[in-house]
Amino acid sequence: MEKFYVTTPIYYVNDDPHIGHAYTTIVADVFARYYRQKLGANNVFFLTGTDEHGAKVAQAASKRGLEPQEFVDGISNHYQEMWRQLNISHDYFIRTTHPEHKRIVQELLQKLYDKGYIYKAKYKGTYCVGCEKYLTAEEIVDGKCVLHPSTDLFEQEEENYFLKLKDLVPHVLIALESERYMVLPKERKTEILSKMREGIHDISISRTGIEWGIPLPWDTSHTVYVWVDALFNYYSATRINPDAARFWPADLHLMAKDILWFHALIWEALLLALQEELPKTVFAHGFFTIEGQKMSKSLGNVINPLDLVNIYGVDGLRYLLISSFAFGNDGDFSLTRFEEIYNADLANGIGNLVSRIAKLCEKSDHDFSEVVKNYKPFFNEGLDAAMTSSRPDEALRFIRNDVQALDKQIHEDAPWTLNDAELIQTLESYIPKVLSLANDLKPFLPQTVEKIVTIFNVGKISKPEPLFKRVSIQV
Ligand code: ME8
Ligand code: MG
Repeated sequence: MEKFYVTTPIYYVNDDPHIGHAYTTIVADVFARYYRQKLGANNVFFLTGTDEHGAKVAQAASKRGLEPQEFVDGISNHYQEMWRQLNISHDYFIRTTHPEHKRIVQELLQKLYDKGYIYKAKYKGTYCVGCEKYLTAEEIVDGKCVLHPSTDLFEQEEENYFLKLKDLVPHVLIALESERYMVLPKERKTEILSKMREGIHDISISRTGIEWGIPLPWDTSHTVYVWVDALFNYYSATRINPDAARFWPADLHLMAKDILWFHALIWEALLLALQEELPKTVFAHGFFTIEGQKMSKSLGNVINPLDLVNIYGVDGLRYLLISSFAFGNDGDFSLTRFEEIYNADLANGIGNLVSRIAKLCEKSDHDFSEVVKNYKPFFNEGLDAAMTSSRPDEALRFIRNDVQALDKQIHEDAPWTLNDAELIQTLESYIPKVLSLANDLKPFLPQTVEKIVTIFNVGKISKPEPLFKRVSIQV
């Protein structure tokens, strides 16, 4: 592989970004940075953006008395500002209201229509605006959507255009079984496969009642179903940017399991119908709760990532989010555990290790520039393997092990008992190890690593300011 194209979902602009959106985006950022280190900065394309059409967004705008465009401009800016503050290194931010995106979506739909994959029919069903889709019987419990119990459901009958999904699914099934594309983790692939084997109905790909959308090119009284509009972003972004065409198709689509269905089935069906290449891997991570509770506006426990940045810093937050639970599983964020992990791994772990070694260097009064210059960056093998199997949380475990190993070695060497020559020799063995640790940490803690490099890249090294101040939250 000499290129890497990674995506996050494009988030709905019905509301401001929260910790859930930050989680996926930070993980995507770690992958992007890791592959830039491996393949070179020009060989990675990292895409994120906002999903700006549909009933949900139009409703949110009218609730605030704003025109949809005015409203989506505002929230989309909040996302872009959030990613700037979290040091997210995306190469492009796509908005589905971009004129070129709209043009490309129309072009692709016209192609599907011309190839005979789209037909017109009446449809009657129960629609959930929260999901932006018609629900199946299993998705309705006590007259409510299982995912959006506070949202009113609508009985709708419309004349719609349909995608011949039923005819396409057998081809998607073969593609997935033969690993033309991968769905991870394994259990999710099994779920998707069994749903496919149960049989799938055609889906409608247009709406008549929703004006806030892209008109169908052959019948402008309909707008494109927002999920089809949204999925095409992964393609349109590589066309809007002429330099990005060579990154197609995506190597890694990241998301949570809530929207795996669209990414692991509908997306591939659309691509096969268009005779386009399939993505390499679709990875759905788990859904997390906060202190054991589902995150929701009504419970008032929706976390703004910047509140955590105020306590732990940007790198602290990045570390805490990734290390809190296994990537792929559901998990829980506990704010008390955040404090423990931060103090143990960052303040007392990496931070303390760096300052101990720098202090010893200062004591030796020796110029270590040669050692620093001769260091050749390489990744820890275990970390490489963890990243290749999409386990950034596991990758951090290898870093923790290396920190502990070096701490232990310092303890055994007891450098404070050594004479000058012995001390210099010992430090000459530590410095490449610290630099190697910094190299491993760089995708995860980019700002901290810049500081570490600055500390050691000066000839005569002196004791630095602490990298991570200990945190104690009064309860
Ligand atoms: O679904 N735990 O946008 P969305 C883990 N516009 N991840 C979470 C989370 C949680 N509690 N809450 C949110 C959409 N996420 C569509 C996508 S893509 C072509 C269109 C993250 O704003 C996670 O990545 O509802 C999830 O898949 C995504 O936010 C849903 O974002
Ligand atoms: Mg959602």
